Amino acid sequence: MRLYQWLSATMASSMVFVLPMRTRGSLSKCFPKFDNCFQRKLGINTAASRTDRLIKKDEVEPKNGRKTFYTVEEERIEQAQRSVLISCPAKTNEKKFLKYLSRHGDINKYFFYESYGMYAVVEFVHKESLTSLLNGTAIPCINHEATMPFKSRLLSLRNTGSVDQSAPQCQSQTTIPINDLIQRLSNENSIDHQITSLTEMYQLTEENVCLRYLVCSLLKDIAAAYFPECKIRPFGSSVNGFGKLGCDLDMFLDLDDISGRNVKKPKAGLSLEYQTKRAASERAATQSILSVIGECVDQFGPGCVGVQKILQARCPLVRFAHQPSGFQCDLTANNRVAMKSSELLYLYGELDHRVRCLVFSVRCWARAHSITSSIPGAWITNFSLTVMVLFFLQRRTVPILPTLDHLKDLAGPLDKCVIEGNDCTFVSDFTKIPLRDNTETLEQLLQEFFEFYGTFAFSRMSINIRKGREQSKSEVSPLNIQNPFDAALNVSKNVNGTQLERFVGLCRESAWMLQQREFNVPHSQTRAATRDRAPWGLAALLLPSVSQAAGVKVRKNRKREPASERIKSLLESLKNRDDKTTGNGTGGNS
Ligand code: CTP
Ligand code: MG
Repeated sequence: MRLYQWLSATMASSMVFVLPMRTRGSLSKCFPKFDNCFQRKLGINTAASRTDRLIKKDEVEPKNGRKTFYTVEEERIEQAQRSVLISCPAKTNEKKFLKYLSRHGDINKYFFYESYGMYAVVEFVHKESLTSLLNGTAIPCINHEATMPFKSRLLSLRNTGSVDQSAPQCQSQTTIPINDLIQRLSNENSIDHQITSLTEMYQLTEENVCLRYLVCSLLKDIAAAYFPECKIRPFGSSVNGFGKLGCDLDMFLDLDDISGRNVKKPKAGLSLEYQTKRAASERAATQSILSVIGECVDQFGPGCVGVQKILQARCPLVRFAHQPSGFQCDLTANNRVAMKSSELLYLYGELDHRVRCLVFSVRCWARAHSITSSIPGAWITNFSLTVMVLFFLQRRTVPILPTLDHLKDLAGPLDKCVIEGNDCTFVSDFTKIPLRDNTETLEQLLQEFFEFYGTFAFSRMSINIRKGREQSKSEVSPLNIQNPFDAALNVSKNVNGTQLERFVGLCRESAWMLQQREFNVPHSQTRAATRDRAPWGLAALLLPSVSQAAGVKVRKNRKREPASERIKSLLESLKNRDDKTTGNGTGGNS
């Protein structure tokens, strides 16, 4: 069970409150006011209650508890600025540690996790506490090596006193292995439960999101050496609601507050301007900036390893691994459209709980069958898959999601946004978005998702969530998914015919499997040795191969059978196994 430890604002009592975060997440969804009550009871100071800036934002927030993308972002960035990341010896006495830190001020919350050693994330109530803590922190003296005298909020705890015996409980930052997942899902009693359970197990935890914002904040401290007013903002699956534990951390170096874009120029009279160097193009400027920041990260960034500057890509980036968090990081600049599509995906995910559930299931299914991969190539990406799910939900007889054009029509004056000539305007206030009364179950939707794409006219049509309908293809790529904010861009241009064929084949197979009684109802019998049920429903869809379903180890050079053969054999193997378990040969399904 994942636990999250919250500390009351008053450290004097040293009380540790323990609450399962997943439960808390779902509870706060069911009861929007739950979060507030929870925080009031424990006397936790929220960022929102303290700063005028956030209070103003809250005034425009919808009353139903759903926060806009930018409100969430602003709160998280502010939280991260009050936080510190500390590498701790494995045996650290939690109470002593907290008492030591709280000399600098009250702690709002903290947690421990493991990644090549144990770390603690500690969030203070006030930013000043951090200043005090850092003032009392020393640069290490190492005899035979020189250290870079670069101060950051990544620290190490040294214990020169007596050795502690206890170790704090660590939060897991990774997903459960696929075989354990399959087993857990098989023990659920309906496909709907399987889908929600998978989502709960895979989605980013509260702690993991805090850690992601903290890594951005640590990186901002490096970039701020050159650009003090810059922001480093996470985008993509870290913030769009579709992130899985272990997903990469996409970051955007936002220099808008420096660029002068937001400064009003006087219509007449004197004014001053900064003298600046000019670059040949915006792209060249981005490349120079990323090159310098990349160098800084490489030379001075504690914990940042394997820094690669990939500056010739369509979207130039600096890639590196942040060892203390275990995140694979991509830092880009001038990538505002991607930021906007993250906001759009977040909004779609918040509109109906079935959206995230379906996306998580489809992403997990695709990964289990190597439709997607962590290595770049001709595969379908998670982003493309997500857009495909959104499109499918727009195409229901009673649509579950509105089209982007409709969201644009609902936008207010503050939502207006044009980036590089592309109109990226859409409504941000959830209360303005009317939803249709669609009551389809997750099981129905999953089944029909596979049917929809198993029979989609990919050779002629493109997928367009702006219009919410397929459009004639204007280019030759096998799979055409139009970028929501730039119709001329195909987000799945990289996908080749073979990969698309595999996707379509698996969709058909999976649709067929979900129609079979052998697969779509729980097996009533359990395997004698383990008391576990044989895989069924979503769990059966995740089985990587027929042999595994049959409990036989896969030989590496084994040829893949045609889909129909695989299904036949899978059915047979399940039937045989059930027969063996029950010993009655009558088939195993209830
Ligand atoms: N993006 C885009 N067009 C693409 C690829 C990516 O606009 N062809 C944007 C999307 O906003 C996407 C973000 O860049 O969410 C990050 O891309 P990526 O890391 O590939 O996808 P994620 O959505 O973050 O999913 P994953 O969990 O696989 O990282
Ligand atoms: Mg990503």
